[in-house]
Amino acid sequence: MAYNEGMLRDGALDNKTIIITGGGTGLGKSMAAYFLKLGANIVICSRRLEVLEKTARELEETTGGNVLYAACDVRKTEQIEDVIAKSIERFGRVDGLVNNSAGNFISPTERLSFKAVDTIVDIVLRGTYYFTLALGKYWIEQKIKGTVLNISTTYAWTGSGWVVPSAMAKAGVLAMTKSLAFEWADHGIRLNAIAPGPFPTKGAWERLFPEELAKKFSFENRIPLQRLGEHQELTNLAAYLMSDFSSYMTGEVITLDGGEVLAAGQFNFLSEVSDDQWDSIEEEIKNANRNSKKSE
Ligand code: HXC
Ligand code: NAP
Repeated sequence: MAYNEGMLRDGALDNKTIIITGGGTGLGKSMAAYFLKLGANIVICSRRLEVLEKTARELEETTGGNVLYAACDVRKTEQIEDVIAKSIERFGRVDGLVNNSAGNFISPTERLSFKAVDTIVDIVLRGTYYFTLALGKYWIEQKIKGTVLNISTTYAWTGSGWVVPSAMAKAGVLAMTKSLAFEWADHGIRLNAIAPGPFPTKGAWERLFPEELAKKFSFENRIPLQRLGEHQELTNLAAYLMSDFSSYMTGEVITLDGGEVLAAGQFNFLSEVSDDQWDSIEEEIKNANRNSKKSE
């Protein structure tokens, strides 16, 4: 078995209808493909209808599954209601939601207009709570034990300069995940999140690692496990969290980043120290120990 192979057994998502926001591209598209292979009906939605149509056709051809696509700006509640209505009309019900849509770009914060900040926060935070609230109301009314997966980031905890609107919004998404996981647990509704490290996608790379930067800074060197993530690794975890295998898990945020976030450890700068340097450092510390014993 290899880490980039599908992990769950066939039929793991049978009879589940799952809406994936931003499912036309990147990680959303990869999740859609794997969920379809596992037997789910998939609804993908985002702003660009032509992108969704192309993805839906491709996914139906490659997996033989059922895909509904619908245009939806997640900042618009009436468009969200419309996607949910169309999903119920086509598949009879909705069981799961992956809040995957996002907007983001790197910039010194002082260069941002108010509208630029609003744009990111509205897509990421408002879009996530609008969609979750709309489906939560439906699930509670229909007594459906729905499942939500929010795609977050590791800097939702640590914060990060140069992506401040995204960090603020993703932190809000985490607070919602944990808060609603408790509040809606007695309805059987579960909410979990994934905090991915770098998983190459066109959307993220164009806006976060433009060529100018990529030439100077290599991601792989900063990641303790020395490589980028592969989509199948993330989709394996996502499928588990959307499946009944994770029925006892809620309010959890799982980091999948090759150890990247651990770089905050106070002494991790010591990875720069060579073996030779360690020999003399050890000697220096032991000398200091001996001297302090003598002076006691
Ligand atoms: C400064 C910028 C800017 C930039 C846009 N703006 N890009 N300001 N620097 N590079 C400003 C605009 O000038 C405008 O403000 C405001 O932001 C809105 O821009 P629009 O282009 O009008 O918005 P819109 O067409 O809605 O596009 C939204 C977008 C765009 C977020 C700007 O990038 C987009 O569509 N993104 C969707 C996909 C995406 O971002 N994927 C990456 C996800 S990766 P003014 O005041 O001038 O009108 C991720 C996590 C990564 O989230 C973690 C990696 C490890
Ligand atoms: P992506 O391909 O750019 O995906 C973003 C999606 O969001 C697009 O399909 C886009 O479609 C949709 N979207 C943007 N604005 C929207 C709006 N207003 N309404 C509805 N949909 C909208 O990038 P990605 O890398 O796959 O990102 C997917 C998720 O993973 C995001 O939540 C991101 O924050 C998270 N993430 C990614 C990485 C990574 O390394 N790739 C790391 C950490 C977290 P339209 O343009 O058609 O609307």
